[in-house]
Amino acid sequence: MKVPHSSLITFALLFIQLTSASGGKILVFPLDGSHWVNMKVLIEELHAKGHDVTVVRASDSWYISEKSPLYTSVTLTSPNGFEQNFETFLSRQLEIRLQGGHTSFWSRFWTRIEMERVVVDQFSQFHKGMSEMVLQMFEDENLMQSLHKAKYDMVLTDPGIGGGAMLARWLQVPLVFNVRWTIQGEAHLLMAPSPLSYIPFTATEFTDKMTFPQRITNVLSYILGMYTLSYITEPHYKPLVKKYFGPDVDYSTFFLDADIWLMRNDFIFEYPRPTMPNIVYMGGFQCKPPKPLPVDLEDFVQSSGDHGVIMMTLGTLVGTLPQHIAEEIAAAFAQLPQKVVWRYMGQKPANLGNNTLIVNWLPQNDLLGHPKTKVFVAHGGTNGVQEAIYHGVPVVGLPLFFDQPDNLSRIKAKGGAVIVDIAVLDRHIFAEALMAALYNSSYRENMQRLSRLHRDQPMKPLDQAVFWIEYVIRHKGARHLQTMSHKMSWFVYNSVDVIAALLTFVLLITFTFISIIRLLGKMIFIRKKVKHE
Ligand SMILES: *[C@@H]1O[C@H](CO)[C@@H](O)[C@H](O)[C@H]1NC(C)=O
Ligand SMILES: *[C@@H]1O[C@H](CO)[C@@H](O)[C@H](O)[C@H]1NC(C)=O
Ligand SMILES: *[C@@H]1O[C@H](CO)[C@@H](O)[C@H](O)[C@H]1NC(C)=O
Repeated sequence: MKVPHSSLITFALLFIQLTSASGGKILVFPLDGSHWVNMKVLIEELHAKGHDVTVVRASDSWYISEKSPLYTSVTLTSPNGFEQNFETFLSRQLEIRLQGGHTSFWSRFWTRIEMERVVVDQFSQFHKGMSEMVLQMFEDENLMQSLHKAKYDMVLTDPGIGGGAMLARWLQVPLVFNVRWTIQGEAHLLMAPSPLSYIPFTATEFTDKMTFPQRITNVLSYILGMYTLSYITEPHYKPLVKKYFGPDVDYSTFFLDADIWLMRNDFIFEYPRPTMPNIVYMGGFQCKPPKPLPVDLEDFVQSSGDHGVIMMTLGTLVGTLPQHIAEEIAAAFAQLPQKVVWRYMGQKPANLGNNTLIVNWLPQNDLLGHPKTKVFVAHGGTNGVQEAIYHGVPVVGLPLFFDQPDNLSRIKAKGGAVIVDIAVLDRHIFAEALMAALYNSSYRENMQRLSRLHRDQPMKPLDQAVFWIEYVIRHKGARHLQTMSHKMSWFVYNSVDVIAALLTFVLLITFTFISIIRLLGKMIFIRKKVKHE
């Protein structure tokens, strides 16, 4: 077929336009840890599209390297050694969770309280450190001058920390969130109408169908949860907001001012709920088709024959488990005809079966996408859950902390996961869970259905995310998509003033009406009396 000349020119022009539309300057203020692994996927794509990325990092950062071909970095001195704190915190959390096992309701209740207390302490410390870092940043005039002069097109941040939103406001540039959690709670709960009758609060593990007692728990959890969050963050960030943005800036809405909220979930994973025009769902944006496995791993996987492979990893933060638990897990694996690939950094369990391969690291996405992989034993972290959906692999969940139980409970509610409480785990319970996920086909069918639904979208989630970032650059923000809701006081938002006015009016009318009737009644009475006499 001969392509007309003019359409070639149009195409060339379009191409030039498309490429020149990119090339923005993006300042990224990320959250370290597994969230960074996530953010980096976005940065890679933005870099590939020709954007110029600068990353703000702490001097003692875990994962965010100073030098990278993808970005230039700005390093802030971090005031406290958070890393060590966090590791002891995690092992303490695990300890507490393990204690909660075979005991009575009350001791479980106290365990839970103790766990909350440790979490509150730790997060409070974390935000304290973060706010000190932000303070140092704002006080460093040279740094702030150079950031100002760089004329960024936008700030991209994870609102699990407060720094990025403050920086964007200070530089007066548009703001995009890579979000599920903000420092004030789950993003939807702050942004969109969220009736607690069918929206389960974080960490309750409820679904969108709640019984009456569950709804009571849900409301109480909400009140307690929101109070705790403000207790954790407000004392640290509020003075900063006051100091750098003026006393009349409303702290409670300061962090809600983003132009676009790129949400790390979607309605395959989340229960259906009201949302907002500037919330863009990019759940699964980190998922990719699998690449071939390293040769030795591929050989191991192939050696499983028709039985297939089980893979297990508990994420980047938890490399080891208490020895007795590791041994129960190993014993359960050893009973099965499948082959097992287990990412484990601890001491090798003595009773490890010859079907189990222990590795320090595994190519999670590639292994999940392998046709021989039958079951994924996971903790419910950021990437694992989405990748399991993407590849349609049933999950045996071993949730450890934060919102991991919640994440897994969603997959369970959709029929794709069996959950095991690590506090009561033994070889029989674990083997039973594995057998269910392996041999009851409903788990696989449900995950495959979720996978098909997840993939059936007009645009890939990562492309969607990049589109909206470039949209913000092109239009210098997306103010027109923001609702007025968080600029209103609670009584205007809920129309309390209107209801009060209407009620007053109705009362007034009723009162007048009654008075008139009474008056008329009296007049008639008087007239009758006069007639009689
Ligand atoms: C693995 O262990 C099982 C049972 O202990 C044994 O029957 C089998 O021969 C072993 N396989 C290999 C390859 O060593
Ligand atoms: C739970 O899943 C969501 C969505 O994938 C993710 O944003 C969140 O970080 C996960 N929680 C944990 C503790 O990884
Ligand atoms: C498979 O699992 C589903 C969901 O847990 C359950 O309803 C069903 O009875 C199980 N089927 C068999 C054959 O065990």
